[in-house]
Amino acid sequence: MQPHVVGGFVRDTLLGRDSFDIDVVVTATDNQNGITVARQLAQNWNGKVKMHLNFGTATVECRDGWKVDIVTARRETYAKPGALPKVEFSNLLDDLWRRDFSVNAIAASITPDQFGQITDPTGGMDDLKKGLIRILHAESFTDDPTRIFRTVRYASRYNFQIENQTVALLRSTLDQIKSVSGSRLQNEFNHIFEESMAVQIIQRLSALGLETILCPEWQVVPQLGERWQRIRKNLGWASQYLTSYQFNPQDFFWMALDLPNQVQKMLSFSPSLQQKLVEQTKLAHRLLEGTLTRRTKPSNVYKLLKPYSLEPLVYHLPQPQIEQYLTKLRHIQPNINGKDLIDEGWCAGPKLAQILWERFAQQLDDEARADKVENQAC
Ligand code: CTP
Repeated sequence: MQPHVVGGFVRDTLLGRDSFDIDVVVTATDNQNGITVARQLAQNWNGKVKMHLNFGTATVECRDGWKVDIVTARRETYAKPGALPKVEFSNLLDDLWRRDFSVNAIAASITPDQFGQITDPTGGMDDLKKGLIRILHAESFTDDPTRIFRTVRYASRYNFQIENQTVALLRSTLDQIKSVSGSRLQNEFNHIFEESMAVQIIQRLSALGLETILCPEWQVVPQLGERWQRIRKNLGWASQYLTSYQFNPQDFFWMALDLPNQVQKMLSFSPSLQQKLVEQTKLAHRLLEGTLTRRTKPSNVYKLLKPYSLEPLVYHLPQPQIEQYLTKLRHIQPNINGKDLIDEGWCAGPKLAQILWERFAQQLDDEARADKVENQAC
């Protein structure tokens, strides 16, 4: 079945970088293909297998966390821009030519007798030396406009040049981004967020006109770099002080982009992410209005911030009142409940709710004051 490692693993190994994402391509025989191989490996390694039957690909997940993607060598045809490809099993060379860039189309044999032997039909080794990102045929971006994002991502990650014709084709097909489904677009952004050069990648895409294509009212803010730095700092703070909560960094990067509703709809965000983005905008307005100051009573801080999810609050750090709410106020439990008040002689109704809040507000202010005194003493 001519197994070869291919794609990112080979590219990064040749560049002397670590790579933990292993892609293996095998050529189908009459009764074996990538899926049957993956099943056997999963059995041998006591791992799990996830299959994508339409594409003849499968992922083997080993118990120690390693993942190996097994692909059946294939040829692809695209019915229309942005659509998923129609797949036909084929040989190794076809499989390399169907790929995005020459540097991702290098294969290395892993059969014992030819171990490490390179197959490089598209000139990928040469481009790796020159530091070039180059597509393999003129329809590459039309077939799969997500490659536009990938071009800029790899060029920034490796500090490579984008080859001249690739730039020209990229510019002329930029509009095709609109044909990509929301979830695939979202996925491309999420990949960008994982990069250390994320801000530069977004700014380069912006310089190419990405926002105008997705929504003319959207503009990437000039202070994106500062926002990114702040997010990383705030996530560090949260990992120290909000240990019982697992944050998803992507939520914060989406917040930093100030996406108009139209783009949010286009990207098919989950209701929970949409909610966090709405809350972030609302909180930003509140903070701009100067609603929270040093003089705001802790009970009012509590009342103002209670309706928000933790993500928009952490996003807006450093802000002393938000920090006080996150670390102290939100954990305070009321000393009394409605039943206690009824026992005191109050009647059930709206007035009771008001008294209950007033007592709790007093408790919040007292506990916060005691806390401050204790901190000052320390
Ligand atoms: N690929 C492609 N076109 C795409 C996506 C992927 O041709 N739109 C091919 C490339 O050959 C790529 C391989 O599939 O190398 C695996 O894709 P992916 O896992 O996304 O990228 P890696 O190359 O592994 O790189 P990295 O994860 O480091 O970004």
